[in-house]
Amino acid sequence: MSTETDVISGLEAAALRELGAVSDAAALEEWRVAFLGRKGRVTLLLRSLPELPMEQRRDVGARGNALKRRLDEELELRKQALESRRIEEVISDRVDVTLPGPPIPRGRLHPITQTLRDMLGVFKGMGFHAVEGPEVEWDHYNFEALRIPPDHPARDMWDTIWIDYEKDGRRPMLLRTHTSPNQVRFMEQHEPPIRIVVPGRCYRFEATDATHEWMLTQIEGLAVDKGISLTDLKGTLAAFARRIFGQDRQVTFRCSYFPFVEPGMEVSIDCFICRGEGCRTCGHVGWIEILGAGMVHPDILMSMGYDTDIYTGFAFGVGIERIAMLRYGVDDIRHFYSNDLRFLRQF
Ligand code: DAH
Repeated sequence: MSTETDVISGLEAAALRELGAVSDAAALEEWRVAFLGRKGRVTLLLRSLPELPMEQRRDVGARGNALKRRLDEELELRKQALESRRIEEVISDRVDVTLPGPPIPRGRLHPITQTLRDMLGVFKGMGFHAVEGPEVEWDHYNFEALRIPPDHPARDMWDTIWIDYEKDGRRPMLLRTHTSPNQVRFMEQHEPPIRIVVPGRCYRFEATDATHEWMLTQIEGLAVDKGISLTDLKGTLAAFARRIFGQDRQVTFRCSYFPFVEPGMEVSIDCFICRGEGCRTCGHVGWIEILGAGMVHPDILMSMGYDTDIYTGFAFGVGIERIAMLRYGVDDIRHFYSNDLRFLRQF
């Protein structure tokens, strides 16, 4: 064996021995620089080839290149081995495979959605079916068709958020202030008998406080048929109040004014804190108002082309937030839409 060949065997033995002792990525890199780097021992050997006598050059060149290939391969294998060992260490350090998986956070329905669904369920059980209408509404449906002409003082009952509108003779647009426009929208398209409930968001240009929000949710109800009377209205709404607030609930109907009904009324339940004695929750009157209602004004039935000698109807509008506040004992309406998870997680 020539001396050069011995040098190559020695180099190979040294490289493999040192590689065997490498135990982390930093040491492996040091090893690579020492043997295969630009000034590494194998690199220098190959560079010195031209200085060798002709007869040795070929043999040494071939063996030197084979050594380089082998060490490249060994380097790669070692790199992979170190990496999989590192991963195994991380896994065995941190993951106890016998532990149960982390809990997946469960969403839930918003309290207003829960209340809305319960309320719709009660009305559906009484034969009403649910329909929807637009939140962006014409003045016509929100006001005029409900007997609230421009400049009528009753407009003050609903502070309105107006929207820019086309000036081509169409009436101004607004965000509906209540769900009542759907009474007219539905009657325009249908003949009696009618029994509908219309849930939806409404908007008011209003400063917020503990009992007022600029966005609220209502359910409108409408029943039109032969011979519908105030008794039907009272029976329907008393049954609703008892289904939502308990069978022993007292319900009272008091005259009120809404331009689209005659007579109009406010429906209240007895205060469940004081049972009618008078307390802070009911403002010391013993009763808590929960909705507005009335017999559909004959003018409206007539403008729909219904024969008012045959058909009569009742309507009602109920705010979901108010019902939810009473039901869950929430003292500030703003909690519902401030997205505080500490509040929402309670439902
Ligand atoms: N739309 C009324 C409001 O938002 C509530 C209402 C009262 C609706 C009487 C009705 C009704 O259908 O008959 O204040």
